[in-house]
Amino acid sequence: MSTETLFRPFSLKSLNIKNRIVMAPMTRSFSPAGVPTADVAAYYSRRAAGEVGLILSEGTVIDRVSSSNDANIPHFYGDAALAGWKEVVNSVHHSGGSMGPQIWHMGIMDNHHSGWVPSAPFEGPSDLNRPGFSNGVAMTQDDIEAAIKAYGSAAADAKRLGFDCVELHGAHGYLIDQFFWEGTNNRTDSYGGKTLNERTKFAVEVVKEVRRQVGEDFTIILRLSQWKPSDYTLQMAKTPQEMEQWLQPLVDAGVDIFHCSQRRFWEPEFEDSDLNFAGWAKKITGKATITVGSVGLSGEFLAAFKGESSEPSSLEELLRRMDRGDFDLVAVGRPLLADAKWVQKIRDERTAELKGFSREALMQLL
Ligand SMILES: Cc1cc2nc3c(=O)[nH]c(=O)nc-3n(C[C@H](O)[C@H](O)[C@H](O)COP(=O)(O)O)c2cc1C
Repeated sequence: MSTETLFRPFSLKSLNIKNRIVMAPMTRSFSPAGVPTADVAAYYSRRAAGEVGLILSEGTVIDRVSSSNDANIPHFYGDAALAGWKEVVNSVHHSGGSMGPQIWHMGIMDNHHSGWVPSAPFEGPSDLNRPGFSNGVAMTQDDIEAAIKAYGSAAADAKRLGFDCVELHGAHGYLIDQFFWEGTNNRTDSYGGKTLNERTKFAVEVVKEVRRQVGEDFTIILRLSQWKPSDYTLQMAKTPQEMEQWLQPLVDAGVDIFHCSQRRFWEPEFEDSDLNFAGWAKKITGKATITVGSVGLSGEFLAAFKGESSEPSSLEELLRRMDRGDFDLVAVGRPLLADAKWVQKIRDERTAELKGFSREALMQLL
C-alpha cells in the first residue's frame, strides 16, 4: 500500500501545505478563562514538528457573551486570548507547520457539567438546541448582525496574527448549523424558511462578512455536517439537488474549501453511488474538499466519548478514494490527539508503532 498520494503538497490562495493531512479541530478545554496557554502552544507545535500538513485548532469562540458553555474553551477575541493565539501560531510556524483557527459560536447549548454558565442566555435562531429542548433565546435582527460582525472580526484577527487560513464551524448542531436545520430554526423572518436553501442565509452572510474582512486571497474553510449530535442519521440535504441548493450560495459567498464531517468517511451520502459527503461536495461545487471520520481507526468518535476504545485500521479504502480524486485533503482527529508522530509513522510505514485511541488521551495535552 503506497501512501504517496497523502504526501503531495497542496496550495490554495494563502494556504501552502506540505502534505494532505489535516489535524481535525478538537476541543480540549485547557485554556483557563478562554486564554490558550504555553502548554496549548506546545501541544500544537508538537503536531507541526510531527509533520501534520495543516493544523486546525480546536473550536475557539467569537465575541458574543454566550458563544460558549465552558470557561476553559479558548476565546478568539480580547487581548489576552489573541496574544495566546499569537504564541500558538508562531510556535507552529517555527516547527514547520501551517495552521488555521476554527471559529465557533455554539448557539443554544446544554449547560456544561462544570456548572459554569455565561452571563447572558444562550442564543440561536430559535430557543431550541434540538426539537423539544429549549435552553436560551431566539436572536433578534440586532443580535444576528452583531454575531455576523463578530465572525468577521475573528477572521480578520486570524489573518493579522499570521494564521494560514480560517475555518468556520458550521457543523455538528452549533449556531450556524442551528440556522441550517429546520429542527432548530423555526424563524418566520428571512433567516428561516421551508427550504434548506432559505435557511442558508445566515451562513451566507457570515461567509460574505468574513470574505470582506480577510480579502480575496485568504483561504476560507467551512465545516459542515448533515448529522446532528441529537440524530446521527439526519440528512438535511436528501438529494444531490438539495445539496447543491445548500452549497452553491456558500460558494458564491466566498467559501474556498468545504470540510465535510462524517463519523465514518466510507459511508455513501446518497443511493446509487459510493461517493461520500466530501466526494459529492467536490463534484457539485468544483471546490476543494476535506474528508474526515474514523480514518485509521476501528471505531467512530462519538462512541469514543462513551468510553469505546479504537484500534488502528488500514488506510486502503481512504487511499483508493483519494487516488480517484474524490477529495483533496484528509482530516484526522483522535489518532493525532493521541500521538503527535502519527503522520511520520504513516509515511515511514511504522505501522507496528501506531497507537489506538482511548478516552484517557483526553485527560492531558499529550
Ligand atoms: C475530543 C474531541 C473534540 C472535538 N471537538 C471538535 C471541535 O471543537 N470542532 C469540530 O468541528 N469537531 C470536533 N470534534 C470532531 C473531530 O473534528 C472529528 O470530526 C471527529 O473526531 C472524527 O474524526 P476521527 O474519527 O479522526 O477522530 C472533536 C472530536 C473529538 C474526539
